[in-house]
Amino acid sequence: MSDKPLRSRGWFGKTGKDGFIYRAWMKNQGIPAHQLQGKPVIGICNTWSELTPCNAHFRELAESVKNGIYEAGGYPVEFPVMSLGETLIKPTAMLYRNLVSMDVEESIRANPIDGVVLLCGCDKTTPALIMGACSVDIPTIVVSGGAMLTGKYRGHDIGTSDIWRFSEDNRAGHMSDEDLYTAEACMARSRGHCAVMGTASTMACMVESLGLSLAENAAIPAADSRRKVLAHLSGNRIVDMVREDLKLSDILTPQAFENAISVNAAIGGSTNFIIHLLAIAARIGVDLNMDDFNTIAKKIPLLANLQPSGQYFMEDFYYAGGLPALMKELRDVLHGDTITVSGKPMSHNYESSECFNRDLIATWKKPFNEVAGIVVLKGNLCENGAVMKPSAASTELMIHTGRAVVFEDIEDYKNKINDPNLEVDETNVLVLKNVGPKGYPGMPEVGNMAIPKKLLDKGVRDMVRISDGRMSGTGFGTVVLHVSPEAAVGGTLAIVQDGDIINLDVYAGTLHLDVSDKEIAARKERLTLHTNIAKRGYVHLYQTHVEQAHLGADFDFLKGGSGSEVVRDSH
Ligand code: FES
Repeated sequence: MSDKPLRSRGWFGKTGKDGFIYRAWMKNQGIPAHQLQGKPVIGICNTWSELTPCNAHFRELAESVKNGIYEAGGYPVEFPVMSLGETLIKPTAMLYRNLVSMDVEESIRANPIDGVVLLCGCDKTTPALIMGACSVDIPTIVVSGGAMLTGKYRGHDIGTSDIWRFSEDNRAGHMSDEDLYTAEACMARSRGHCAVMGTASTMACMVESLGLSLAENAAIPAADSRRKVLAHLSGNRIVDMVREDLKLSDILTPQAFENAISVNAAIGGSTNFIIHLLAIAARIGVDLNMDDFNTIAKKIPLLANLQPSGQYFMEDFYYAGGLPALMKELRDVLHGDTITVSGKPMSHNYESSECFNRDLIATWKKPFNEVAGIVVLKGNLCENGAVMKPSAASTELMIHTGRAVVFEDIEDYKNKINDPNLEVDETNVLVLKNVGPKGYPGMPEVGNMAIPKKLLDKGVRDMVRISDGRMSGTGFGTVVLHVSPEAAVGGTLAIVQDGDIINLDVYAGTLHLDVSDKEIAARKERLTLHTNIAKRGYVHLYQTHVEQAHLGADFDFLKGGSGSEVVRDSH
């Protein structure tokens, strides 16, 4: 038990005019005086929004958290932050991740909060909230919203990854518009986020493997009443975390990050994991770089048979034993002694777990696939690195040499991709430029470009594709992403021309443009950058301060934290 005074006493514990002001306006909500007299004040940071459908059940979830906080002797205060609905926000939710993190950081620091519960679900809401909370570093626990129930369409299980398949079938004339429309409601049949191991579920697994949530947070479906139980218990626990002064920096050690990287490899997590984890590490002051992902994950096989790398859905994952059962298989490579929000070692979360479906959670000895994780590629085409997910790629394309078919930007791509006169065959490498953090701006999920229509009609379903953008965690294919430096800042990607030869070797971790150094330098001399920096507003701030993908695409001025101290007291 910590003898540190509660942070909230700096507001509610004051006497005279200041204390009057701090307490009186809270009382207009019908709060009895004793609630403000020395109880830990727990913020519930809520990303509820009807424009973020994945998080639209969060008001209910917040009520369960509140019950747990009251029960443990705390006082809950719920507050909103900007929410990011992956499907609706234009041009891309990633453009606003850093903005939300600023909202979270300043909202926590500026208010009388002793501990905070982060309610997050849809992709960017999780890293944004954790990044912001890291920069304040008070006791924090995460409650994820949970995935949707598995979709059911004409006797088949479906989820978000099927959108890509349906869309290709529709373009190729194998699925009618009417059937496509029918499939919409069949897929999204309950509350919650995407039902596959896309970015939202990857983030929920990241949270649990970092030790930032109670056990089982990652996989309990949103519609399962046990999600509310977890929220209630998290409300209980945050009050004790405040009493123990167990902060994010006590939990987010280098070993915790290593655990998260190992787990992400074994679950076949989204490529977005890498960019978000790098940003979180930089906020909490842990030294993590792209090479660490290769080093740590290279010995880890794929254990989870989950879409998009495999067959099953998040609901099935929970019934199979969830993340604790998978982590138990990894126990020899995990740091079991890292402390989690429970105050106990990580091993406590998984040592007594059981697996109920070996077809879904494979054993270390007999994995689902030897190839796992996110491979970081290096070479003259990506001096600072690029990423790809081998478990979602085609084996026959893992080593590939082909001529480039270049799209200068997303408009160029849209104009040409279905042109029957486009000179392209299945051996070519599709190259998309100017979709990076600064160039687009916001680094959209367009890296898994659709296959040219004329090849689709021939039955081609995968090609090597390279860009400085990202890919949805639900996507798949032999797709090289996050090329850094991006084209918009003059990276080598910017000077690739139609017909240039590109060599990809995923096993060797290389991506090479077969053009001489002299010619590359000459082309760079002649290069005109495409970047248009916005004149005003948030987009101007974003474009002038966002860092490259290999650093996490955070703002250069947001790295690290400013702690929980309030610099000035205005009353
Ligand atoms: Fe929200 Fe996929 S759209 S998690």
